Amino acid sequence: AIERTLSIIKPDAVAKNVIGQIVSRFENAGLKIAAAKLVQLSRAEAEGFYAVHAARPFFNDLVNFMISGPVFVQVLEGEGAILKNRELMGATDPKKAEAGTIRADFAESIDANAVHGSDAPETAAVEIAYFFPTLNVYAR
Ligand code: CMP
Repeated sequence: AIERTLSIIKPDAVAKNVIGQIVSRFENAGLKIAAAKLVQLSRAEAEGFYAVHAARPFFNDLVNFMISGPVFVQVLEGEGAILKNRELMGATDPKKAEAGTIRADFAESIDANAVHGSDAPETAAVEIAYFFPTLNVYAR
């Protein structure tokens, strides 16, 4: 099915000037950009986005990292977009990410791991609405 997923290119990858290289990987895999913006998140916005992780020990470091510089937030659209994006990203911990994945090639650590991607249809819908509340999502 045609799906939409939320992708965030994190502050480490933006600072490395590899937004274009990462977007090219999405495009080359057949994903289309349905929406995109470069934004500096406030602490409240980052905490809200990662609210499901609020009780985890890494929450504060994660939030501090996500507000350390601008992020590039996109809605990616295409056949099986959620899983396709996760395959392109590789494992959360770049040390465990398969060769040739975005995290293996561009990430340094589990916090500075270059990209975020929605993990399921339900979270994709919530995450897309969080950053693009006016984007109507229709099946087409
Ligand atoms: P992300 O996909 O953005 O979702 C939550 C983020 O928390 C994750 O990527 C990592 O960057 C970060 N994180 C830090 N430590 C951990 C951990 N032990 N397990 C999962 N995520 C972690």
